[in-house]
Amino acid sequence: MSIKAIINGKETIIEGRLNRRLIDFLRNDLELTSVKEGCGEGECGACTVLLNGAAVASCTVLLGQIADSEIVTVEGLAQTEDFDKIKNAFSSEGAVQCGYCTPGMIMSTQGLLNKNHKPDENDIKKALEGNLCRCTGYNKIEQAVLKLVQEDTHVE
Ligand code: FES
Ligand code: FES
Repeated sequence: MSIKAIINGKETIIEGRLNRRLIDFLRNDLELTSVKEGCGEGECGACTVLLNGAAVASCTVLLGQIADSEIVTVEGLAQTEDFDKIKNAFSSEGAVQCGYCTPGMIMSTQGLLNKNHKPDENDIKKALEGNLCRCTGYNKIEQAVLKLVQEDTHVE
């Protein structure tokens, strides 16, 4: 049994056990190591990727569920201008310390901006509430996303 998915813009054939977790396939088979494992239970957001444009915890998704879907990780987003804008905002607001949560935060931010180009503070809080950060606290991260939205009206 095999399925197809577009992963970071490339058509990818996935064969074998489709009851494996998406996070394991991305990290171990494709070496997309921006996808971090934290809790493994859908609670921390470290493993967040985009599934058809929406932020999802890849530790809670099985390969069988991504047939004919589009998956984007930080490695794929890094090829876009949007990534530079998010990265610059995080860096100028001091929103990164150890960096473990950062890929997940970035993907949740992009997931939010995909559905809402002008989120307010509450929208941002809500979008990031599933992403845990043990270092900076959330203020700087939320401020970074707010700054990004205020400065840039064209993040898609
Ligand atoms: S590792 Fe997936 S949500 Fe924590
Ligand atoms: S920057 Fe260290 S966990 Fe968020």
